Amino acid sequence: MGKQKVNPYKVEGKIDYDKLINEFGVKKITPEILNEIKEITGELHPYLRRGIFFAYRDLKKVLDEYKKGNKFFLYTGVGPSGPIHLGHISVWIFMKWLQEKFDTEVWFQFTDDEKFLYKNMNYEEIQKWTHENMLDIIALGFDPKKTNFLIDTKHAGIMYPEAIKVAKKITFSSIKAAFGFTDSNNIGSIFYTAMQTVPVFLPNVLRNENRPCLIPLAIDQDVHFRLSRDVLEKLGHQKPAIIHAKFMTPLTGIEGKMSSSNPDTAILLTDSPKEVKRKINKYAFSGGRDTAQEHRKFGGNVEVDVACQWLKYFEDDNEKLEKIYDDYRKGKLLSGEVKKILIDKINKFLAEHQKRRLKAEKLIEKFIYKP
Ligand code: TRP
Repeated sequence: MGKQKVNPYKVEGKIDYDKLINEFGVKKITPEILNEIKEITGELHPYLRRGIFFAYRDLKKVLDEYKKGNKFFLYTGVGPSGPIHLGHISVWIFMKWLQEKFDTEVWFQFTDDEKFLYKNMNYEEIQKWTHENMLDIIALGFDPKKTNFLIDTKHAGIMYPEAIKVAKKITFSSIKAAFGFTDSNNIGSIFYTAMQTVPVFLPNVLRNENRPCLIPLAIDQDVHFRLSRDVLEKLGHQKPAIIHAKFMTPLTGIEGKMSSSNPDTAILLTDSPKEVKRKINKYAFSGGRDTAQEHRKFGGNVEVDVACQWLKYFEDDNEKLEKIYDDYRKGKLLSGEVKKILIDKINKFLAEHQKRRLKAEKLIEKFIYKP
């Protein structure tokens, strides 16, 4: 098995999440903190119940503030360099749930600058993906009245004056250490963390407020905020609260994370039902036995079977999910049968999504932040 490596620009190996909690200095989500959330929301999202969101920073503080009437805003982002796949959206589906339950504003950053600087793509290609990604994010159903899109190069006029204040307090040596940069990295990439920090406090600057910020993210992105937490306080802003998600397993097996630069490891939100079926049947790593006969006799391994693992994201009903796992372990369900259940679930989700995506174009202007 590959060695574990997790930072925003590289995720490799089989991830040991408990080890990450220690390395990153974050806290594990406990039953107590889940209860605190449940007191406010009335129910728990399946991703919380199932440990897909598994760690946090400063979450108790924002919940306490919320109870006192000081509402937080939500912030997350996407680097627009390719099509959106299922690995991206678990964080956003959960964030939409938070938006509804806590009735909060969402700030969504499109880091076209980041992707231009890091990827071998020209500016026009990145703009195309920014547009395409917006359509998918809108189609997930965020409330246009309470959601603001920030596009780094378009909103540079309001972001840059704040970014330089952050950048002035972060040294090249801490960036090098955090991301493993060398002298051959381009100078734009060294600055970038400052841009990702700005939305943590920009809404407060724009409106002269002092609301806390809560960031749902996949844990690799925590590194940027770890670098800027102390800086934020020095600038007179609050540190953000963060809630961390695990990576959705790539189709091909339990190491690393899904990536749109390798389309066979991922289901894209624009994939047709046929394509979904083909990819899952062909690539989804199986926890089953070599022959159906052996499988019936000895049963399958739910923990490594990608179809079983992905159902955590698509089968909300706990009893149904447990029954599938139980039957698979006992050999009553074959790998092909679990794959079929998953294919149907995903295709149902995508059919609805793709319908909403067609109507998203008209809404874009409503989502883009206008000062
Ligand atoms: N850097 C992220 C990416 O490459 C995008 C991003 C910007 C982001 N701001 C964020 C992700 C805040 C999580 C939280 O996808």
